[in-house]
Amino acid sequence: MTTFRIAPSLLSADFARLGEEMKAVIAAGADWIHFDVMDNHYVPNLTFGPMVCQALKRHAVRADGTPVPIDVHLMVQPVDALATAFAQAGADLISFHPDASTHVDRTLQLIRGAGCKAGLVFNPAAPLDVLEWTIDQLDLVLIMSVNPGFGGQGFIPSALRKVEQVRQLIDASGRDIRLEVDGGIKVDNIRRVAEAGADTFVAGSAIFGQPDYAAVVGAMRAELKALPPRGTWA
Ligand code: DX5
Ligand code: ZN
Repeated sequence: MTTFRIAPSLLSADFARLGEEMKAVIAAGADWIHFDVMDNHYVPNLTFGPMVCQALKRHAVRADGTPVPIDVHLMVQPVDALATAFAQAGADLISFHPDASTHVDRTLQLIRGAGCKAGLVFNPAAPLDVLEWTIDQLDLVLIMSVNPGFGGQGFIPSALRKVEQVRQLIDASGRDIRLEVDGGIKVDNIRRVAEAGADTFVAGSAIFGQPDYAAVVGAMRAELKALPPRGTWA
């Protein structure tokens, strides 16, 4: 079984049918559900909050009853209160942008103390230096390959070099940390992103923009099939 993970982003789902859309994408083979939280402050857009996460949580299960992890991507500032609220709302994994938190170490402790896996998110122009001081507390690093705020943007090529750097840092740490990439992932570039070192792929418009979600997820998996597996947890 491959350890690559595909995490469809509900940002590109039909918000008028959010529950049905999540069930459909789980039936189509989603490994995780990526939940983009935007506050119209850290990013110029506004999406959904912990109450919506809580309502969806009970439906985030596969046909065999196994739960599907909810991967919350916080694009909010400040971070701590909403991170706590999402932990209580059933998030399995919570990631935030280090530049949005005054005390990154404290926020990581808060998320892990609440029983969730914790991730840091790096914008296209953000340096990685904070990883030197936080990698021991991370379960996931999320590299943005678009500027956060909107679905359907084009993949920024420099993200590949950043993914390569993070892969080296993760491997050197010896820790089991997932390396996720978010923004502009399509069937025709997912393999290149995996070759750079990513193991988890967010895809919004690529999946929800097509009528057959399973066909897109299947085509993405086919692109990853020949590559050696990465990552072990979840
Ligand atoms: C952007 C979000 C992404 C977005 C990706 O701020 O973090 O998760 O939904 O959408 P696509 O796959 O359409 O680029
Ligand atoms: Zn996202």
